[in-house]
Parts: sequence; structure tokens; C-alpha cells
Amino acid sequence: MLRARRSGPLRGQCSVPGDKSISHRALLFGALSDGPVAITGLGRGGDNLSTARALAALGVRVDVDAAGAQARVVGVGFWGLRAAAHALDCGNSGTTIRLLTGLLAGQPFESTLEGDASLTRRPMRRIATPLREMGATIEGRGDAAKPTDIFPPLRVKGGALHGISYALPVASAQLKSALVLAGLQARGRSQITEPGLSRDHTERMLGFLGAPITADASTRTVTVDPAGWGGKLRAAPITVPGDLSSAAFLMVAALVVPGSEVTIEGVGLNPTRTGVLDALALMGADLEITETGNAMGEPVGRVRARASRLSGIEIGGALALRSIDEIPALTVAAALANGRTVFSDLHELRVKESDRIAALARELTRAGVTVEERADGLVVDGLGGKPARGGTVRPEHDHRIAMAGAILGLAAEAGEETAVPADDIATSFPTFAETLRTLGASL
Ligand code: S3P
Repeated sequence: MLRARRSGPLRGQCSVPGDKSISHRALLFGALSDGPVAITGLGRGGDNLSTARALAALGVRVDVDAAGAQARVVGVGFWGLRAAAHALDCGNSGTTIRLLTGLLAGQPFESTLEGDASLTRRPMRRIATPLREMGATIEGRGDAAKPTDIFPPLRVKGGALHGISYALPVASAQLKSALVLAGLQARGRSQITEPGLSRDHTERMLGFLGAPITADASTRTVTVDPAGWGGKLRAAPITVPGDLSSAAFLMVAALVVPGSEVTIEGVGLNPTRTGVLDALALMGADLEITETGNAMGEPVGRVRARASRLSGIEIGGALALRSIDEIPALTVAAALANGRTVFSDLHELRVKESDRIAALARELTRAGVTVEERADGLVVDGLGGKPARGGTVRPEHDHRIAMAGAILGLAAEAGEETAVPADDIATSFPTFAETLRTLGASL
């Protein structure tokens, strides 16, 4: 259990673990390459370890060094995987189950994919429908309360796939990536279009590794054309940038705790992910962002955040999509800002690791913030200088609800304590508390 109290200034320099989304892809695409691949900076949160374990169960040699964020995967190509002896446990990880489902849809064997209580409630029809159309057999658990959808465990019977032209019903990098993985194993061309541009790490990394993929950001279309391609990715060393989604919690902590100044080095700055930086800047945050390099087509840099007087803004549309995983951190900024912040176009938050709209409304209310819960978002009336209340956070197996609760606790009234059940935080940011303590946080 973490206990957060009103904190003195956070000061100093730090780094964050490797980006969770990019780490999943590094492991998966490494496994599909034509030889040994060294991965530097791999995230070692529970979600990434779920992907590593699932690949090992599919016959891939994966060595993850527990201390050093170094990993080695011996690629077997698309046609070197073998059936697992047991169900693949995807833990808490939506990215693991959805990307693996796309990959296994084209394999000549049957697989079962399962997960924890949270993952078992996440919708999978969105992935089953296009993969069935491509020729795979996908079955899932039914739920009388949601009869049109299916849920894990999933049974995936791979088949000879054919290419597809498909318009995704929601902007989702997990769906897009799963269909790309299926498309690379299919006969013929696949074209996937999404209603908004979701994170494009798959397109960038697969392009870097020599896959027959092209992406057109203006039409939000990805094309995969495997004709004449040998079915193996280039075995090139992969470097994973720091996770901006983890850094977001440190940035918001620095912005809301008076007197703070924190610099985070080596963070991924992919423009499909940087909505959080734009939203905080619009709120009046004193942020300094410096691009320092590039890893496999992913921009990387340094972010410095200084305590700031924040104001309410509107976060919807493309800005909401580009900050989808940072909404929990942004609601903490909104809770302590002056004025009203309106979050909208966030239906997808209802089907993340928890129903994040309901969870955030509950946690902000507990902390004494006036919040209106809407179907697609939240209206948050900032405390504007008044400190928050403490209490006990209910993360419900959602790492980002736990971290948001902890950060809010650092800006609580003197004498108020916020208790945070912290086990789930290791899903993405195992060094969260340690990093904040090094910066001087009362946690
Ligand atoms: C992810 C995509 C997003 C994001 C998730 C990671 C990925 O989900 O919220 O944390 O790595 O592809 P959706 O694909 O459901 O939008």
C-alpha cells in the first residue's frame, strides 16, 4: 500500500521505463524476425512480461534481464512458431491479447488466449469480426448482459487468410496492429482505415524492419502487401524510448506540487502520443520539450516541467485520441486547475483496464472535486488553489487509476493521507514510487 501526503517540492532529473506499447512490438516483431534481436530499454512491467511469456510458450527464445532492461529475442519468422502446450495468459494486457490474436489468426494451429479479471471483461468482437472475414475461426465467451460482443478467453483457430479492406469502427492501434499482423500472413493486399489516427508504432517499427507496409496519415490508411515477401523481418537491434505515458504522471506531479521542477530524459515524443503535452501546454503548464534523437523512426527527447498555475480547457477530438492513456493524469491536472475542464469523445475509456470514466469520477469526487460524469467523458470543476482531500483509492486492477490517485494525494490538504493499493502499478511503471521518492515526493 502506498501512502501519499501533501508533498514538498519535487526536484531533479530522472528517466522512465521503456515505452509499454513499443516494448510489446519490439518483443513480437523481434520474434518474427530472421535471427537474434537485441532490445535495449525494454519496459519490464507486467504487461510486457505477459507478451514475453506468451511468445516463449509459442516456442520463441526470449531472455529478459530482470535488472537491466535488456532483452534478447531469437526470431523464428512468421512460419517458425509452434502451438503452445497450454492457454496463453495475457494477464492484464489488452495489447498482448489483441496483437497475438491477429498473429495467431494466420497460424496453422489452434490457440487459447486468456487473462485476468479485468482483461476478461474487455470487448473482443471488434477484433473477431475482421479476422473472421479474413478466414480465421475466433470464438469467445458470451455475456448475457452484452449479447452482441465476445470476451476472453478466446479460441483462435488459424487458417489460410486472404487480404481485406476494412474500415475500423473505432480508432485503435491494437486493432490496426492485429490486422496488420494478419495481413502480413494473408494472400493478397490488406488495407485498414481508421476513423482517427491512433498511435503508429507498428507502422514505424515494421517499416524499419523491412515489412511490406505503407501508411498514409492523411487518409489514416495502412496498406500491407505481402506478395513476393519472404515472411521474415530484418533482425535489427531495437531501442525502446522511455514511456511518455509514465512520464505524464511525473510531469503532472511536478506541475501541481508548488515549487517543483523535474526533468525527464529519453522520453518518446511520437506525435500520435503527445496530446498530453499539448493539452498541458494549453492549460498553461510551464513545459520545456527538447527533441534529442530518434530511435527507429520514433522521436525521443527531454521534458522539463515546472510547477504552474493551470486553467481549465476542452479536451476532445484528435487531442483526446492523442492523449487517450494520459486522461487519468490529465484529470489530476484538471482537478487542481482554475476553472472547468471538459473531457469528451472518450467512449473508449469505458473499456480500458477499468471503466476509467466511472473510476476517475469516483476518485475525484472522493478527493472533494466537483465532477459530472458523461457517457463520453467528464466535466471537472478545478479546485483552483483549494487542496484536495485524502482517502482510499480503488484502482480496480487499473494501474493508471492507482497512479492518478497517488499524484492527487501529493497535492492534498496538510494532514490528509491518500492510501493507494499499489500492486497494479507494476503493470506499466514498476519504479513509480521509487522515482517519485527520489524526486522528493511524500509517498
Ligand atoms: C495501445 C493502444 C491503445 C492504448 C493502449 C495501448 C497499443 O488502445 O490505449 O494502452 O499499444 O496499441 P486501443 O487500441 O484500444 O486504442
